[in-house]
Amino acid sequence: QPVHLSDYRPFPFRVEGAELTFRLNPSATRVLSRLHLVRQAPGDLRLDGERLEVLSLSLNGQPLSLTPDATGLTIPAALIPEGPFTFEAEVRIDPAANTALEGLYMSGGMYCTQCEAEGFRKITFYPDRPDVMAPFRVRIESDLPVLLSNGNPVAQGTGWAEWHDPWPKPAYLFALVAGDLVAHRADFVTRSGRPVDLAIWVRPGDQDRCAYAMDSLIRSMRWDEEVYGREYDLDVFNIVAVDDFNMGAMENKGLNIFNSKYVLASPETATDDDFARIEAIIAHEYFHNWTGNRITCRDWFQLCLKEGLTVFRDQQFSGDMRSHAVKRIEDVLTLRARQFREDAGPLAHPVRPDSYVEINNFYTATVYEKGAEVIGMLKRLVGDEGYATALDLYFTRHDGEAATIEDWLKVFEDATGRDLTQFARWYTDAGTPRVTVSDDWQDGTYTLTFRQETQPTPGQPEKPPRVIPIAVGLLNPNGDEIVPTTVLEMTEAAQSFRFEGLAAKPVPSILRGFSAPVVLDRKASPEERAFLLAHDTDPFNKWEAGRALAKDVLARMVTEGAEPGPDWLDALARVALDESLDPAFRALALRLPGEDDMAQTLHEAGVTPDPQAIHAARRRMGRALALRLRPQLPALFDTLREPGPFTPDARAAGRRALRLAALSLLTRLDEGQAAASAYRAADNMTEEVGALACLLDIGRGQEELGLFQARWQGDRNVMDKWFALQVLHAAPGEAAATAERLTRHPQFDMKNPNRFRSVMGALSGNHAGFHHISGAAYRLTADWLIRLDPVNPQTAARMSTAFETWARYDADRQAMIRGELQRILAAPGLSRDLGEMAGRMLGD
Ligand code: ARG
Ligand code: ZN
Repeated sequence: QPVHLSDYRPFPFRVEGAELTFRLNPSATRVLSRLHLVRQAPGDLRLDGERLEVLSLSLNGQPLSLTPDATGLTIPAALIPEGPFTFEAEVRIDPAANTALEGLYMSGGMYCTQCEAEGFRKITFYPDRPDVMAPFRVRIESDLPVLLSNGNPVAQGTGWAEWHDPWPKPAYLFALVAGDLVAHRADFVTRSGRPVDLAIWVRPGDQDRCAYAMDSLIRSMRWDEEVYGREYDLDVFNIVAVDDFNMGAMENKGLNIFNSKYVLASPETATDDDFARIEAIIAHEYFHNWTGNRITCRDWFQLCLKEGLTVFRDQQFSGDMRSHAVKRIEDVLTLRARQFREDAGPLAHPVRPDSYVEINNFYTATVYEKGAEVIGMLKRLVGDEGYATALDLYFTRHDGEAATIEDWLKVFEDATGRDLTQFARWYTDAGTPRVTVSDDWQDGTYTLTFRQETQPTPGQPEKPPRVIPIAVGLLNPNGDEIVPTTVLEMTEAAQSFRFEGLAAKPVPSILRGFSAPVVLDRKASPEERAFLLAHDTDPFNKWEAGRALAKDVLARMVTEGAEPGPDWLDALARVALDESLDPAFRALALRLPGEDDMAQTLHEAGVTPDPQAIHAARRRMGRALALRLRPQLPALFDTLREPGPFTPDARAAGRRALRLAALSLLTRLDEGQAAASAYRAADNMTEEVGALACLLDIGRGQEELGLFQARWQGDRNVMDKWFALQVLHAAPGEAAATAERLTRHPQFDMKNPNRFRSVMGALSGNHAGFHHISGAAYRLTADWLIRLDPVNPQTAARMSTAFETWARYDADRQAMIRGELQRILAAPGLSRDLGEMAGRMLGD
């Protein structure tokens, strides 16, 4: 039942045009399709189609009496004429019953679609594969006032509208929206003078929360012109916000559809993190217009071709808009928390997988985030100019095509003359390399020796060495940089690099900017880490030194019951109070290592992590830091208050982040007094949520939760925060019960993925709560996955990754988790989505 990369065969027909008519009705929508086809190679015509009620089928106007099977329709070669021909179908579908949110479905009274990866086959019969690209004409018939599809509007009248998309596209980029919507509009003129009407469509009442998304869109469009030379190519660009959506957003040609939480924002309702995510996701979907839509993927194994590149581009954009240093640190935090975790467990897979059962299960941190890291390495290896030349070649050579990773690498080889054979392993080999470092100092020569090793991953026992760009700088003992950042290219399993003619033994700063997605294993003394935290000129490694120091301290607290010593406390205090540093950076430095991260690190060091012990140690660590900074905390909190009205820019957000970091420490000393008054004084969601989280962390905040609920009852996106906060910040022994209680709240609705995630996702995000030895959280999670699966298999499968780390823990927890996974596997009617995930996690 799995699909294999090696099974790829070109489609034997070309679709010259697709004409679709939708007669919308909530439970009985009729879809008429007329496909203009031409044979390219011998064979039957196989069209995908699922859960379609057939009303009629015809070929060149002649009725076809064929019966589809469960996954589609085969028109025997013998029935197909030579030359161009027309296939027509009329089918009936039921959008109102579509709780899987894939294909055409309804959300809050509006019709919308999600076709990636294979949702179009739930709309009509079609070769639903990304290498079949065609221009689409769409007619929508409905009484709803706003009727949207891809491309340019052609004509409209009462009860209908017609759209034409001149750019050939695969079916996964098809979109349709119909509803009672209002627009937030703006104009844009492309570099070469094309006027574009921009609109963000939302439910009436939400139009005053679109300004930030629109501003982000305009900045994205300009940036792609300036940095990549890419212009927009239609007369209109529409974005629609929907409340029920499985993922973040979707790049449908000319009609992006967004989870409303990544569009709607006002200072009162959105946090600084929400604003930053909106900016990044708006950019991401817009950038797909070139990296994804104009150049798409030959098959779904090539998903990283568009996703890795588009994530890389949105990260560059956010860095340009905000701070590269802070953005890099945040991206690495995410990479480690999600991708390293995935790569270290039973769900590990290559950036380009070679088989899958359900492709929706491969929209992963590995494909997206590691896919972006691989491009960052490529850029580092060929240099900025080489990268720019290669990208220009990519766009000219492959525009209008469905390409592969081989095509992508060939472009770099042709543009730069570099052999990328070994580099290609980053795409085909799963697992995170561990790079160990040792050094030697003799007669003015400093030698760094690296060894790389990657553990076996499912289906891949052998891990040949990869090319790893290791950016290194050297500091001399008084803190001056003596060797600026140099990229060492490691290609062997073990390799040494020499630096000659040095006056004194230097302090190395290794893997600057996190130049490769590897685990760097270097046993350094606390003094050396503190030295780099104070002096490193590379902001990422400056932060990294503080993080490594903190993790060493926390590990010793967990395993030896040690208490944090003055090394770490003094070094961190200096950074926290250093006013020459960006407040956002200082806030990141004050963030303690995460519990899940610590569990993974201990596991890799051969220690079985005890979630409760990690949790307790981390709290002691926070208290020790609070005591160290006690005299300065109130001032830190007060002086960072932003004067004047709220602005969502990076500078103001950074000041709020540091202010809240101070509040969080203060809360460990004053029983929540400062947080309680900060909650009441807050005039923006960042501080409202920040103060509430502080209170919940110390077991208070019940009254504030009530105030919050009373104020925000009517706002789904804000109420998601209310649900999530209580679970995330519940004490370990109470997390499962809190989540369980919230699933009985009248506003809990498992059909809404955001709401489901805000309870069950928060439960797995509460490390000590999820892994509480009672097993209550494991049971509750499995119960809800089994319940959600028939309703929305995609979201159920995605949430099941809560269990992917089971092998880290002790025998009791392992047995409990495996038991839950087996219970899931045994659920009657289990979906292919969740079945694949549970099976892989159990190791079959
Ligand atoms: N291409 C979309 C994005 O990255 C994600 C769509 C994922 N959809 C899915 N059904 N897996 O922006
Ligand atoms: Zn994407």
